[in-house]
Amino acid sequence: MAGLLEGKVTLVTGGASGIGRATALACAREGAKLIIADLQEEGGQHTVHLITEKGGDASFVQTDVTHATEVEALISTAVARYGRLDCAHNNAGISGRGIAGDHRALTAEYPDARWHQVIAINLTGVWLCMKFELQQMLTQGGGAIVNTASAAGLVGLVGNAAYVASKHGVVGLTKTAAVEYAKQGIRVNCVCPGYIQTPMTVPGMQDPDHMARMVTSEPVGRMGNPEEVAEAVVWLCSDAASFVTGHTMAVDGGYVAQ
Ligand code: NAI
Repeated sequence: MAGLLEGKVTLVTGGASGIGRATALACAREGAKLIIADLQEEGGQHTVHLITEKGGDASFVQTDVTHATEVEALISTAVARYGRLDCAHNNAGISGRGIAGDHRALTAEYPDARWHQVIAINLTGVWLCMKFELQQMLTQGGGAIVNTASAAGLVGLVGNAAYVASKHGVVGLTKTAAVEYAKQGIRVNCVCPGYIQTPMTVPGMQDPDHMARMVTSEPVGRMGNPEEVAEAVVWLCSDAASFVTGHTMAVDGGYVAQ
């Protein structure tokens, strides 16, 4: 039986790790040809290896999503290699916490450098990817884009202003592009994961108090795993979701339903 994404050329950013890697593997299982983009070469090549060792088709393009020239080159490389771009999962991102060694900064004390870094990667990076993906999808007459926002794109979180703002921005970008390009056959959706066990959440998991808060804040009583997010992305990319666009899909164990 043909897979849900049989033959579809699919780009995954942040594909060297966590949710991006799980999505790449799930898309490959469904028959997609993968382009993995990430800053991390080793992790990205490992994702490629995990796909090709099972007979799938994948290649890695080292990319910093904050640089327009690199993103443009990424899309050109994908099209040169595979002829088109059917699906894209814009997923590369960083946590707002811990990158400056601290774990919490209220809005009035939020460090400027951290603000700009989080917005550059999580919001501008998604917009840059969408910009060049949309240009390609317009020339070929359609496509499907799924952005990774977050439960933090739907509700506020104490001490994480830049992350929350960046993810609310991704939700807004998703809705805007969805209505702008609906008539051109391009669907644009986003997933809003809750707490997911990935390298991003490892620092929090090592703090027993923070870990307990993460688990108890999820109505299902556990963190999610990246594969649970990947399945939602696969479905949103696939033709099974042909009438779904502009949607923000919570994959969060009920977090935002509380
Ligand atoms: P992760 O840290 O395992 O993966 C993120 C990947 O993005 C890494 O491979 C990293 O190298 C890459 N990346 C970072 N900056 C980049 C840049 N400038 N250019 C290209 N690649 C870059 O984290 P995880 O958890 O898989 O996160 C993936 C997405 O899911 C992120 O957007 C994150 O905000 C979002 N998310 C994660 C949640 C969680 O609990 N883990 C919850 C909600 C959303």
